[in-house]
Amino acid sequence: MRLILAPMEGLADQSLRDILTRIGGIDLCVAEFVRVTHHLLTEKFLLRTVPELATGGCTRAGVPVRVQLLGSDAVCLAENAAFIASLGAPGIDINFGCPAPTVNKHGGGASLLEFPEQMHTIVAAVRRAVPREIPVTAKMRLGLNDTSQALACAQAIAAGGADEMTVHARTKADQYRPPARWEWLALIRETVSINVIANGEVWTVEDCANLRAVSGCEDVMIGRGAILRPDLMHRIKTGNDAMQWAELQPWVADFFQQLRDRMEPQHAPKRLKQWLGMLRTAYPEAEILYQQLRAERAPVVVAKILAAHR
Ligand SMILES: Cc1cc2nc3c(=O)[nH]c(=O)nc-3n(C[C@H](O)[C@H](O)[C@H](O)COP(=O)(O)O)c2cc1C
Repeated sequence: MRLILAPMEGLADQSLRDILTRIGGIDLCVAEFVRVTHHLLTEKFLLRTVPELATGGCTRAGVPVRVQLLGSDAVCLAENAAFIASLGAPGIDINFGCPAPTVNKHGGGASLLEFPEQMHTIVAAVRRAVPREIPVTAKMRLGLNDTSQALACAQAIAAGGADEMTVHARTKADQYRPPARWEWLALIRETVSINVIANGEVWTVEDCANLRAVSGCEDVMIGRGAILRPDLMHRIKTGNDAMQWAELQPWVADFFQQLRDRMEPQHAPKRLKQWLGMLRTAYPEAEILYQQLRAERAPVVVAKILAAHR
């Protein structure tokens, strides 16, 4: 079994990827999408979004980070994919699932799920452009408004030459409403000959086992569950007890320090607040820090967290 950290734009950035992969249990990350329009992205821009490109395409813990592209122009996607591969990316993933209206207006993300032929063209073009030893993969939802094209989309990805695919078991119309339609993962897995990575609604160790049982998929991608419970993947792999707050707090402090090292002073507390806001559902202790940040008493919070980090 491989456990993969999901791409989460605006949430799972380089610092969280660093922290979560050092906590352990994660075999692979997919970075948040990079939007491709009509030009070649610059190295500077790519290194800002996926800084792991500067360190062999891996996090500090040595976990590979695949770069995800979002767009609808096959030629442009292929040219950018080749460039990103030349920068040392350990894999290129193509986004066929993003539901954001601005993205879909330009024909990228989930809107392509209505056009399996175009998905095939894109995957084939990217596969041709990238050296054979570098995996080209895709991530899809089950459809735009319904699941009628789900199997056709999966077949298009496989026939285009993708090495494996992730399926987020929801349509765009489902948004993030539970439950995810795990039963569709089994259908897709039986339809295509490439590896299918299962994704959607894994919050606990038991969820992961249930998802694997229902879908028959070996590998699982986890998104929000890994942010809420940073040791989730580690526990799935080891069967260890859940991490207590005292153990987690130094990791939160480390995260905050990384933010402060690379961001404008006013932005770091906002990002910390975002993570604490999610952590507090699993860790009541995070609630206190979260409320202090909400009250803009950031220096108090900083002092507390960093004291624990010394
Ligand atoms: C804040 C946020 C940002 C996301 N950004 C991306 C993205 O950049 N690319 C992508 O393919 N999926 C993105 N997703 C979808 C996740 O990768 C994943 O498919 C989804 O959250 C379901 O998995 P989960 O139930 O384990 O969270 C995002 C999800 C969230 C919540």
